[in-house]
Amino acid sequence: MKILLASSEVYPFSKTGGLADMVGALGVALAEAGHEARIVTPLYRGIREKFPALRKVDWNFDLPFGAEFFSGQLWELDFAPRLKIYFIEQPEFFDRAGIYFEKNISYADNPERYLFFSKCVVHLARYLPWQADLVHGHDWQTGLVPALILQAKRAGWGNAPRTCLTIHNLAYQGVFPKEIFPLTNLDPDFFTPTGAEFFGFINFLKAGIAFADIVTTVSPRYAREITTEEFGCGLDGFLRTHAAKLTGILNGVDYAEWNTEKNSRLFRSYSATRPGGKSFNKQELQRLLALPVAEKIPLFGTISRLAEQKGVDIQLAALEEMLQADIQFCQLGSGSPEFEHGYRELARRHPSKVAVRFGYDETLAHRIEAGCDFFLMPSRFEPCGLNQMYSLRYGTIPIVRATGGLDDSVVDFSESQKKANGIKFFEYSSRALAKAIRKAMAIYQTPALLKEFRKNGMQADFSWKSTVKQYLKAYRK
Ligand code: ADP
Ligand code: GLC
Repeated sequence: MKILLASSEVYPFSKTGGLADMVGALGVALAEAGHEARIVTPLYRGIREKFPALRKVDWNFDLPFGAEFFSGQLWELDFAPRLKIYFIEQPEFFDRAGIYFEKNISYADNPERYLFFSKCVVHLARYLPWQADLVHGHDWQTGLVPALILQAKRAGWGNAPRTCLTIHNLAYQGVFPKEIFPLTNLDPDFFTPTGAEFFGFINFLKAGIAFADIVTTVSPRYAREITTEEFGCGLDGFLRTHAAKLTGILNGVDYAEWNTEKNSRLFRSYSATRPGGKSFNKQELQRLLALPVAEKIPLFGTISRLAEQKGVDIQLAALEEMLQADIQFCQLGSGSPEFEHGYRELARRHPSKVAVRFGYDETLAHRIEAGCDFFLMPSRFEPCGLNQMYSLRYGTIPIVRATGGLDDSVVDFSESQKKANGIKFFEYSSRALAKAIRKAMAIYQTPALLKEFRKNGMQADFSWKSTVKQYLKAYRK
């Protein structure tokens, strides 16, 4: 099959979260499975410098944008066998310090930026000599792609591709004032309650759900959850209407990137059969973070966007209580200033037990995954979550709230004594999380159990082979 993937971020070119990891890895996995994949993404600042092999294509296009026209320039990179990446250059929109925001404030013209990007995706799909069978967009930023394709079909595009939309996070829908709609150049009948209209606003993601041939999300449990009021973010009813075309597919892990055996970011390599190096990584991480170097003290870690979704509030409260005990905690993250402040305060009150780092740091992310004993993910909701799967492979026991992909990927002792590889808790409260941390401490004091949990985790397999099969099945449908 020929598949054109479209995403606002793609690892290793741009990344703010798991979306980038997922799309980059899906492209590679499709190509490895023998299909032809191409990915289209914006050319953000710095990409050309980091990837000098990027080539300018002799193709500059002017696209209608309301009553005006906006121009884009195409760049390309042969990234892997059967995998080409296209970049859309539009300096006014994409040559900026941030991807979506600066200093925690979203760019005011994000609707225009990603509407323009979506128009470019459709333009490529239509006029590239390479004709995609299917265009697969990701999240609200490409939500309008299926509608734009349908519109072009009405205007005579005979062999238009089928469309798939993946929802990575229903909490971000791209809802904007209706004055944006005329910029789409779509016929007015796309802006109705069964289409892009949402309480008088335009909703990019809703348009995608309405007009894509198939809608997927990133875990089976999240696919069920989003059809309920609790997790539906106002779209549960709409999703129930479209339930027949909705499936949940758990993300895979790119083990070429996230592994403990061939990884120059780690202090020492280790594996399920040679687990010895893990304690060296712990020592070096403690040294790096200026925490007391002590094998006996369990080290808890977390890496995340500091957003409501991630359960930062209950985590801060649970740690406040649990830091009375002999444990250490480190975190890497960036996001809400209020949550950053909370972590800074925690570190200030417990300087010999807590280390916090802010900003984006890939090397440190790998070192935390490898050096910690336990990884905390107390998310309020979690469409898939990748860090718990990375933790499992790194022999770091995940402590997760049983929601979305966290529930689908971690096995608690109560589910299987033989296969247990993590700790789950259910109630969204600091008390329930503190109890889970106490369980972790008990496991840490029982070497045989600790060894068993780690071994089960390191042997768990979330490779893309199985994920890609499920996508192909969805595409064929
Ligand atoms: P989400 O996409 O909701 O942020 P995921 O668990 O799916 O959550 O993916 C998060 C990804 O982003 C992981 O690869 C994680 O390591 C990475 N990440 C998050 N915050 C940081 C950070 N501050 N520095 C480096 N990597 C980070
Ligand atoms: C989103 C979700 C996260 C998921 C990622 C990749 O950012 O918040 O749970 O793992 O997308 O699909």
